Amino acid sequence: MAVSTLPMSAVLSGLSAALDITEGHPRGHAARTCLISMRMADALRLPPDEQSDLFYATLLKDAGCSSNAARVFQMFGGPDEHATKRAVWLRDWRKLDQKVRYAFEWVEPEGDFLARVAQFLKLAAIGPGGERELFEIRCARSAAIARALGMSDATAQAVQSMDEHWDGGGHPAGLRGDRIPLAARIIGLAQVVEIFWGIAGPERALAMAAERRGRWFDPELVDCLQSVSSPALWSTLETGDLNGAVTAAEPEERAIEATEERLDQIATAFAWVIDAKSSFTFEHSDRVSALAVGAAEQLGFTSTELTRLKRAALLHDIGKLAVPNAILDKPGKLTDAEWAIVKQHPANTLHVLQQVPVFRELAGDAANHHERVDGKGYHRGLTGDQMSATAKVLAVADVADALMSARPYRGPLSLDQVCGLLTEGRGTQFWPDAVDAMVSLDSKLHRA
Ligand SMILES: [Fe+2]
Ligand SMILES: [Fe+2]
Repeated sequence: MAVSTLPMSAVLSGLSAALDITEGHPRGHAARTCLISMRMADALRLPPDEQSDLFYATLLKDAGCSSNAARVFQMFGGPDEHATKRAVWLRDWRKLDQKVRYAFEWVEPEGDFLARVAQFLKLAAIGPGGERELFEIRCARSAAIARALGMSDATAQAVQSMDEHWDGGGHPAGLRGDRIPLAARIIGLAQVVEIFWGIAGPERALAMAAERRGRWFDPELVDCLQSVSSPALWSTLETGDLNGAVTAAEPEERAIEATEERLDQIATAFAWVIDAKSSFTFEHSDRVSALAVGAAEQLGFTSTELTRLKRAALLHDIGKLAVPNAILDKPGKLTDAEWAIVKQHPANTLHVLQQVPVFRELAGDAANHHERVDGKGYHRGLTGDQMSATAKVLAVADVADALMSARPYRGPLSLDQVCGLLTEGRGTQFWPDAVDAMVSLDSKLHRA
């Protein structure tokens, strides 16, 4: 399919899988939430523009998910904030007993008794404001990303307000009733229904919606859901081609085309998502992209190759969204088990990008950024002649920026030290031409 005729849904549906992982949801959660939402929109006979606003909001609903990951880790501790985030959806956290039980279960879940008590007290001291803060960070960021992608204001408002509750007990603004945009109310219901459907099937999902009717959810929407519930709806969610099902559900009249400009916007927006996961990776993907393009220009890449390299660089660490912050932000040396998890991230990058038609062709290059020309890199152990020039330039740019940036266990290195280390790796770790091009970029190696 030519880029000019590619619908945005095909791109966003594939990339939403990375957001699912970050938010602790099973892969396909956002896509299935989209299908449930659109079935309801159909039954409600929403006009095409409102259907379109809702459609894109469902796919971008968790775009802010990485921005509170470090804060969740700070508040709850524990080895994996994805599991902590996932668990919150399984509880009716509006009820005090459920909230306390959740906190007891998830603060330092693998720590000893004293560590658990200490973390619990820390969480208690933060109080209810902490809960609101987590939603605020995520919702505001999701809305900002929707706007940066050129989505409508209604789409941005829907992702901003999807965790508000009908009776005013939700977050982040405590909006009540129909002051919550309709699209947000639909997503709010559909996302929790999808989670319960995935765990316990449609009956339990419908029972949960009925239990929370008028409290969490708009009563009329719960009734609407009951009316559209059918074996056909639920079996659609089990399709092996979720991306295809989502694309088929895209409101035709208002479908947004994935132009070249939009693809750049998407790559840039997802780079923000990736880099927001940890303070130690702040703007990393952006800088790697600038460095890689700078070196590639010296090497005479064509403009088509530069565009492809830029997008691969912006997305190269998308697989890192699956790595817990307990590892990314760890101040000490990683254990072997932790290293093994870190080393999976390029394979995750490959998997995610292969699901997105227009990024499939650069998935391999993006995922090969930790390979070395001597074959001692990961995750495939490729040698220099098995790597493209794009991947080899990206590998040098990635290390250059990592060395220039602070890490939990060390400060940033000086430009001289960085150039020295890159040159040392010439011909073993790195493609010599890429090192020479990078080292010649003195001015670009200086951090803005
Ligand atoms: Fe990486
Ligand atoms: Fe990286």
